[in-house]
Amino acid sequence: MARVLLRGRSFVASLRSNLLPSRVLQVQSHSSETAKNGKDAVMKTFSIYRWSPDDAENPKLKNYKIDLNDCGPMVLDALIKIKNEIDPSLTFRRSCREGICGSCAMNINGDNGLACLTKIDQTTIAKTDITPLPHMYVIKDLVVDMTNFYAGYKSIEPWLKRKDPPPVPGKEVPQSKADRLKLDGMYECILCACCSTSCPSYWWNPETYLGPAALLHAHRWIADSRDQFTRERLDAIDDEFKLYRCHTIKSCTNACPKGLSPASEIIKIKKLQQEKKSTG
Ligand code: SF4
Ligand code: SF4
Ligand code: FES
Repeated sequence: MARVLLRGRSFVASLRSNLLPSRVLQVQSHSSETAKNGKDAVMKTFSIYRWSPDDAENPKLKNYKIDLNDCGPMVLDALIKIKNEIDPSLTFRRSCREGICGSCAMNINGDNGLACLTKIDQTTIAKTDITPLPHMYVIKDLVVDMTNFYAGYKSIEPWLKRKDPPPVPGKEVPQSKADRLKLDGMYECILCACCSTSCPSYWWNPETYLGPAALLHAHRWIADSRDQFTRERLDAIDDEFKLYRCHTIKSCTNACPKGLSPASEIIKIKKLQQEKKSTG
């Protein structure tokens, strides 16, 4: 398995061959057939990162030309067309095609985003570059290893924690509309990792800094009126690395395809930490 292979290499060797961006890539070309629907073909090139653990080849960018008049409007449509019609070996994650599952996160022309929500740039025939989420171990092509990202999420214990039983045994814990509104801007997160993989602090400290996605979720539970472990949750992340590696650069907020602001939630956690210290 790819995961086993990558683990079997030295850390530095894995970094050099499988982490982005750090490598000068070869470029190969591959073109498709032209128009089918009576319209003139509008050919556009997609330059896509390719690497497989199953052969000894170095990572490369491979060019695919497709007719935009015979393709849906989104980058994911182009990837699916390439996979279906030109190169079935192209590997990427996708599921919902509507910005809900978070699985099609990748880097498109230098910006992290969801392929299913990113429109193909039809204003220019310039090629579109598609690479995996940056600074992640690549399993194959556009598929990255999310293990460390999910471990950070799991570490903040993303579930309701209570000391008392529900007011009515066996029923849900009620919440006022006003308290429910406090979760807006956090509960919508789909864990796509676009934010964390755009964060320089997460790049350099991926195993010690929780990163913007996990911290956004930490605040989601800290802010939940039904949760009774607020103090313990704050204590658990009151750490030089887990929380304070955030330097409020806000790349995370710029990258979020759901319009959320992890940086703002991190600022709120830091403020709560200060209040906690001042009240003892
Ligand atoms: S604001 Fe914090 S979490 Fe967001 S990119 Fe900057 S350092 Fe990372
Ligand atoms: S905060 Fe936004 S970018 Fe980050 S994981 Fe959630 S949805 Fe994705
Ligand atoms: S395919 Fe689900 S978010 Fe893109």
